[in-house]
Amino acid sequence: MSDSPAAGPPTLRAVRVAGTGSYLPEKVLTNHDLERMVETSDEWIATRTGIRERRVAAEGELTSHMAAKAAEKALEQAGLAPEDVQLIIVGTITPDTITPATACYVQQHLGATRSVAFDVSAACSGFLYALELARHSIATGAFQNALIIGAEKLSAFVNWTDRNTCVLFGDGAGAAVLLPSENGHGKVLSSHLGTDGAQAELLNIPGGGAACPITIDNVDQKLATLAMQGREVFKHAVNAMRRAAEVAIEKAGLTTDDINLVIPHQANLRIIDAIAERLGVGKDRVFVNLDKYGNTSAAAVAIALDEANRSGRLHSGDHLLLVAFGAGLTWASAVIEW
Ligand code: UT7
Repeated sequence: MSDSPAAGPPTLRAVRVAGTGSYLPEKVLTNHDLERMVETSDEWIATRTGIRERRVAAEGELTSHMAAKAAEKALEQAGLAPEDVQLIIVGTITPDTITPATACYVQQHLGATRSVAFDVSAACSGFLYALELARHSIATGAFQNALIIGAEKLSAFVNWTDRNTCVLFGDGAGAAVLLPSENGHGKVLSSHLGTDGAQAELLNIPGGGAACPITIDNVDQKLATLAMQGREVFKHAVNAMRRAAEVAIEKAGLTTDDINLVIPHQANLRIIDAIAERLGVGKDRVFVNLDKYGNTSAAAVAIALDEANRSGRLHSGDHLLLVAFGAGLTWASAVIEW
């Protein structure tokens, strides 16, 4: 008989966010600029969404370029050299190419030659899906660190003649470095992911894939651009994010009162306000930056986390609730002890 202990479930290591970074393209597109492009008004956009302006990437500036710039800042803050990165996961729905993954280009831009790199396609929940995958990869000991990124060049997939959608979206990237938590302080406490593929039609890019290739006959229909049933998505967003938030808080063994800052997906201020109200969280505990950037899909929570971090709003021991919702439908939440 062997003296070695019986093989039980593996001991999982706690995982912390060791650094964050973000990048926004220089070009600002204001609501007033949009007034000159489609039948809309600054007043409509601001009151219906809270958005005042958004960033638009330059022509040759791709999702992978923005992702790498955000990643460099996160790596610098974490004190991790690119060549020591083991895992890169990019959440995006606006990849540079259908294949290979945008994460492969990011690896190349960073010189992170020893990493494994791949994308997750979970729309606005992409960064939190990446967080969950990377956290477990480190927790099990399979990887010693991870670089997670949410990055989008949505301007390349927006129908600039459709006022229902073109006023909503923006470009940008956010990143975080995950490491094992050594001293017990600073760790991801819980997370929750969900998907409802039955609602896939509510928000999608119908063309450009194998189901509907762009041909000379349909090119005028702009099928390779975002299409959304806004009101329906709105209702699902409020309900799913509220539920996801409650599950993550409960799994963390906390109550809403213990949450110092909520960092929600930045799609619509009315959605954010509705969730905060239903959770019973005051506006002073909710991070909002969609007025400056619009909806940057997978990048939104990542950019907001970095801005909250770098503006001094996060203190050691704080409890953060990250929560997102997007096409799929997908939703995700995480509670982090900072
Ligand atoms: O990030 C992934 C998740 N996405 C979301 O969470 C987005 C969820 N949805 C929303 O945020 C909102 O539904 C929108 C901002 C997209 C739209 O706001 P809404 O209050 O639901 O407006 P609506 O779509 O019901 O449209 C109301 C009216 C319509 O006119 P009629 O039919 O009442 O005459 C639209 O044609 O507003 C009109 N409209 C506009 N008017 C001026 C729609 N877009 C515009 C516009 N400017 N840009």
